Amino acid sequence: KKKIAVMTSGGDSQGMCAAVRAVVRAGIFYECDVFACFEGYSGLVKGGNLLRKLGWEDVRGWTSLGGTLIGTARCMEFKERSGRLSAAYNMVTNGIDALIVCGGDGSLTGADLFRSEWPSLLEELYEQQKLAKFQIEKYKTLKIVGLVGSIDNDMACTDATIGAYSSLERICEMVDYIDATAESHSRAFVVEVMGRHCGWLGLMAGIATGADAIFIPERPPEVGKWKDDLKTVCKRHREKGRRKTVVIVSEGAIDRELNAITSDAVKDVLVEMGLDTRTTILGHVQRGGTAVAFDRMLATLQGVDAVKAVLEMTPDTPSPMIGILESKIVRQPLVRAVELTKSVATAIANKDFDKAISLRDSTFLE
Ligand code: F6P
Repeated sequence: KKKIAVMTSGGDSQGMCAAVRAVVRAGIFYECDVFACFEGYSGLVKGGNLLRKLGWEDVRGWTSLGGTLIGTARCMEFKERSGRLSAAYNMVTNGIDALIVCGGDGSLTGADLFRSEWPSLLEELYEQQKLAKFQIEKYKTLKIVGLVGSIDNDMACTDATIGAYSSLERICEMVDYIDATAESHSRAFVVEVMGRHCGWLGLMAGIATGADAIFIPERPPEVGKWKDDLKTVCKRHREKGRRKTVVIVSEGAIDRELNAITSDAVKDVLVEMGLDTRTTILGHVQRGGTAVAFDRMLATLQGVDAVKAVLEMTPDTPSPMIGILESKIVRQPLVRAVELTKSVATAIANKDFDKAISLRDSTFLE
């Protein structure tokens, strides 16, 4: 029987449980044994009880759950070759040569590195007399498939990452709550949202809640001038009769010289306008709660396709990342997706913001 391991890695996101459930059940359907690797890459490195077979019943009711019930971690040991050696040893001794990783770009980069090093890792384990010749032969190729689990929606080559729409929903709920009190007191609110270097959550939340202004990393305003522009916009909205002011600030927001635009700096501008202003940093509530229907659907369809991809892969197939483009579940070369994602950060660092926007691979930022 083919043995597949599934893990969640990096920051958790809503829908990861649905993805694990789909992998486990699709795996069983296709007559494979599916192992959960608990605590992200730590489970592979430490092995033992952290690498356990899951049955059909074990994932019952997981479709809607937030977080990840198999745990996650940002594992430092796996970044070292010694950690990857232990991981390879634990996989081979458990008879596993396929790994489905649900995580962000860092986790998927680690997975691809693991695959490229695999033959040399096995060779070293053989030299250390930890593995026998027949094991090296039998498990000589490693199959890696990536599922993108992240609230940030920052991965290239896919329109949506698992968790992004749930997080967006959470943010919108919170801004709706804030709207009520803001309007009652005729106050201004600065709402800081997550997303790391990606403005998707901020932009979409601003559009969906009708914010006065939005600050995101990919469309930075001119240094200093943004303060006057913000005042002009908010004043105009007030003059039209709006009783509240809401500004959404992505945690990675910057100006055109790459200076951070912090929620405090935005608050200062609103205070200068004479507005009674409060700041709300939403924090980890954005990663909490159940998965919205879209994420349940996305995680389930992608989890099933990840298992199919494992079964269809040949040693020459580049590691795929399962994405969604124009409503179709697609397989993209994982390395390319990770490289493109990293090149957005490079474009921003080089102040080439138009390039950053086009590299986001979506049309909504135009
Ligand atoms: O990548 C997901 C994310 O929630 C980012 O939006 C945020 O910057 C970061 O993780 C927070 O990380 P941590 O949970 O380790 O504080």
